[in-house]
Amino acid sequence: SAIPHIQEALLDWFTTVRHSRGMPWRKPYDPNLNAGERAQRAYEVWISEIMLQQTQVATVIPYYNAWMEKFPTIDHLAASCIEDVNALWKGLGYYSRASRLLAGAQKVVKEYGGQLPDNAKDMEANIPGIGRYSAGAICSIAYGERAPVLDGNVHRLLSRMLVLHAPPKSKATLDILWSAAAAMVSESEEDGKSGKDCGNKHSGDINQALIELGSTICKVRDPSCNLCPLRIWCHAQARQSGQEMEIEDIE
Ligand code: ADE
Repeated sequence: SAIPHIQEALLDWFTTVRHSRGMPWRKPYDPNLNAGERAQRAYEVWISEIMLQQTQVATVIPYYNAWMEKFPTIDHLAASCIEDVNALWKGLGYYSRASRLLAGAQKVVKEYGGQLPDNAKDMEANIPGIGRYSAGAICSIAYGERAPVLDGNVHRLLSRMLVLHAPPKSKATLDILWSAAAAMVSESEEDGKSGKDCGNKHSGDINQALIELGSTICKVRDPSCNLCPLRIWCHAQARQSGQEMEIEDIE
């Protein structure tokens, strides 16, 4: 399987961009945090992911910092009101995101002792405003869970890698792409053997690498294939350059 090699290429690439693009919510995954500290990380990643959903990184950074200053923990947020939340959101747009954050925080404080659920399934099922993408992003980044992400960027990147010409929003297409996204954070037979540990604790980095590759390299128009660390596994790139490639290669 090509998966361990793809994981390694993503992690190598992400290590280089992590340094060039400082983001306040990006902290290395730490497996030694206690439950409270993990929940705090999940809160921080939650805020960042919701802000990043419809807004660019550079715009989000000052909003994220101001938010954390005012609502450093989920308890601070839950004790707030919609007017204060909207004031901090002013200029970011899509205000329903802000009211869902407030409602989510209030539910977590009331029903979960102030700690976001500790896995993607429960998070998606129980927290308003957290869908499959957000649950995967939060739980992989904050908890190291092998939970996949599929946002618009990863959708485009994986569709190109697989040369998937299908209705992008159809159930069949989404099933294929979620499976491909899950493979990206899956454990492979080689995990133990290579000694390189591309497993569990790297799921958040692998997902963030995919998201960032999709937004900065595998762009909608004029993708920068020559800079892409995944080009040797990309069927679209192979077609363009007239190379043959076995379709099983990345499954
Ligand atoms: N867009 C959405 N989530 C992101 C993340 N964790 N890093 C960079 N860009 C993102």
